[in-house]
Amino acid sequence: MSDLKGLVLAGGTGTRLRPITHTSAKQLVPLANKPILFYGLESLAAAGVKEVGVIVGDTREEVMAAVGDGSAFGLRITYIPQDKPLGLAHCVLIARDFLGESDFVMFLGDNLVKEGISEFAAQFRARDGGTAAEILLAKVPDPHRFGVAELDGDGAVRALVEKPKVPPSDLALVGVYFFDSTIHQAVASIRPSGRGELEITDAVQWLIDNGYRVSSRQITGYWKDLGQPEALLEGNRLVLEDVEVRLDGQIDSESAIEGRVVVERGSMIVRSKVRGPAVIGAGTVIEDSYVGPFTSIGPGCTLKSCEIENSIVLEGSRVIDAGRLEGSILGKQALVSRRQLKPRANRLVIGDHSIVELP
Ligand code: DAU
Repeated sequence: MSDLKGLVLAGGTGTRLRPITHTSAKQLVPLANKPILFYGLESLAAAGVKEVGVIVGDTREEVMAAVGDGSAFGLRITYIPQDKPLGLAHCVLIARDFLGESDFVMFLGDNLVKEGISEFAAQFRARDGGTAAEILLAKVPDPHRFGVAELDGDGAVRALVEKPKVPPSDLALVGVYFFDSTIHQAVASIRPSGRGELEITDAVQWLIDNGYRVSSRQITGYWKDLGQPEALLEGNRLVLEDVEVRLDGQIDSESAIEGRVVVERGSMIVRSKVRGPAVIGAGTVIEDSYVGPFTSIGPGCTLKSCEIENSIVLEGSRVIDAGRLEGSILGKQALVSRRQLKPRANRLVIGDHSIVELP
């Protein structure tokens, strides 16, 4: 099973997505308290992949600190630095030594494939000769934001186009590509696109134009961080749909836990109700509060006398006597509290690109 290598793309310019990833790599945005990149690494491990090359760019220190040597995932990780984000096919080019002649699966670190990739990896391993690549596709409402595929009747890919103004279909490339070593010839043969990148779509098109078969599979549970708050909440909900009950923290007798809730070790729930699906991070204190469905509260947070639902609160933040919050995203170490001093007025100290909606 260790035949297939992994190539995970966690580089890029470090472009700050708004509002929550100003200070960190987009691949480390947490969904249900876990960086999105970790879901990808876990699905590679579950598919029997052992050796993974991780492309890192501007945010390399942060990514390397979070992922380490990969042993936590059962993987052996080799970091491959990329000086500039010159394109997805450029990542394949600079990973040549790591990949050797192996088959590999390339996984974009900011994409989530809820069902994992085990079944697709098994199908690729068992493919017939002549198939040089397999891509995963999902139906999306906004295909112009993605690479888009045009298929033949039998699911073979006829053409691919990157972010087309007029999409030929609603089938987007979801950032998971299976390749055999023919792709090295393809990435060495293409030229940079209009946006100055070596496009993997062009490399796959090169395979098709040179007589290789490229097959495709469709998935349903797909999410990509598009940098909008609503998209982040949607990704959080998608992952929370699958959490299973685990109550490792302290829950006092006056509290109630309903449904699928994770309460991490070292956290305390006092005179509060938590209705799942929800996760409460390690060392977090929830007092006299209500935490409603589809909420992720990070580690080291404090919630007192408040209600919160369908929201994300990152590490070390405090919400104190703050009424009811819905559809909210709080970054790290944020404070939302009621002002006790007169005059009673909203007093805000908010970072760049923040959004505050008052009732
Ligand atoms: O997310 C799916 C889409 O990803 C596909 O539908 C497109 O066909 C594909 O080109 C790609 O489009 P994006 O423009 O969204 O890719 P992005 O620049 O966001 O890069 C995707 C990931 O790869 C991200 O985690 C950053 C990393 N990356 C990107 C480039 C260009 C690198 O590590 N190095 C790079 O040079």
